[in-house]
Amino acid sequence: MFRLASLTLVVLFSFVEAPAVGQIPEEFTNLQLLDPAIEKSELVSIMRDWAGGLGVRCNHCHVGPENLRGMDFASDEKATKRSARQMLLMSRAINRELLKDLPIVVEEGRKRAQVVSCYTCHRGMNRPPRKTLNELSRVAFSDGPAAGVARYHELVALHEDSGKYDLRPENLVWLANAYLDGEDPADARKVLDSVLDMYSAEAAAYATLVRVELASGRLPEAEAALAKLVELDPSDESTAWVGGMVERARARTAENAAGAAPGLHEWSFLVGSWESTSKRFSSEGQVIEDNHGTATFSWDLDGQRLRERQTTTLAGQPMEVLNLFSAHPETGEWQIARTDSLHHTFNLMSGSASEGTLTFAEAHPNPNHSVTRRWIYSKSGDDAFSLRLEFSEDGGESWFVRNETEYLRR
Ligand code: HEC
Ligand code: HEC
Repeated sequence: MFRLASLTLVVLFSFVEAPAVGQIPEEFTNLQLLDPAIEKSELVSIMRDWAGGLGVRCNHCHVGPENLRGMDFASDEKATKRSARQMLLMSRAINRELLKDLPIVVEEGRKRAQVVSCYTCHRGMNRPPRKTLNELSRVAFSDGPAAGVARYHELVALHEDSGKYDLRPENLVWLANAYLDGEDPADARKVLDSVLDMYSAEAAAYATLVRVELASGRLPEAEAALAKLVELDPSDESTAWVGGMVERARARTAENAAGAAPGLHEWSFLVGSWESTSKRFSSEGQVIEDNHGTATFSWDLDGQRLRERQTTTLAGQPMEVLNLFSAHPETGEWQIARTDSLHHTFNLMSGSASEGTLTFAEAHPNPNHSVTRRWIYSKSGDDAFSLRLEFSEDGGESWFVRNETEYLRR
């Protein structure tokens, strides 16, 4: 049977800087895996192979100075050296056990076994390069969409010619999709804008833009993005898929217009992502707390309900809020069911709409509470509205503003 003569099948990395051969001891005192009686020249060639495979110098694993003079090669002080032993064990197990029955290949008249080397995975980096999307997501989900885009440009600058990363702009489109999957069309749009700035003919970006526009409740813009997608690449695989989404959104809009939930439909401008700033007032009218948050409204139950997800804070604590809105098609009565991540309760409010205003009162006021509440939504344009929460301590005779929130479209 063919035997693996050594791990140094091809010395690809002869450029790796090494200490002068004279500085490498003749005797090795701490070889736990390699043959302690190994020839010095063979050991050095394996070490160069590893250093080249990882794109590092000897002192990445061995204790000693940058100029590699007076290295203590036997020391196991560095964790990287100890990891390298594990890696060697792994590579041996793969090559000697798992791959041993692969056929021998003949290349340019020479036989060779099919094996992995450090380079197979590491591609000349101390840690194997991550999948580009994973790397972008890691940065973007901790530091924001702009940082994710910046990381992409950094990878392009560093690795344009190295082939270590998949640098296709689709990776940014996939990042935008990841934001969409997390119901964050606003950040998805930020990433997409940067793609379209650079590559205005990127069909995949338009497919995602269709979804962003739909998620933001902007059907005409979604239709425009779909048209652009078809124009750029009529055979794009996602055309049918996002085309179907636009089709369904059209049908839903038509249905709503035909009276499925007419009251709600008048407030369909709410669908999309919003930035919120709110003030809480004392009963004397003093501001006692300033809050910032975000909110996303979307359709649910096929246009029969509006769903709002808010991320905000209450008394310094992070809070998620879920609101469901419904408007009865016959009576025109509105209802809101509200719950949040801090209180283990639901509020049910019922109300009515008039010209740009929705007014709600508690459907079941708690008889033990001294205050009565009402909520008033006011539309102040297509991209702005406000919510006022008012309290009454005298059973509805007089009201004071407890909370006022301004929403601006993101
Ligand atoms: C990725 C980590 C790594 C790099 C880079 C590396 N080595 Fe090593 N080296 C090791 C490990 C692990 C051993 C011990 C192997 C064993 O236990 O069988 C070792 C052992 C040695 C030894 C034997 C020490 C002894 O007395 O036991 C010498 C000499 C040596 N390396 C030289 C080099 C030189 C020269 C370079 C640079 C060209 C280099 N190494 C780069 C990991 C590394
Ligand atoms: C099958 C793929 C594969 C092969 C082959 C491989 N490695 Fe690794 N190596 C990895 C992965 C994966 C990690 C972990 C990287 C991470 O998740 O950060 C790693 C990590 C390491 C680390 C630790 C990095 C650190 O700074 O902690 C060293 C050192 C290392 N490898 C050396 C080697 C050497 C030397 C070889 C060849 C003898 C080798 N590897 C072969 C996949 C591989």
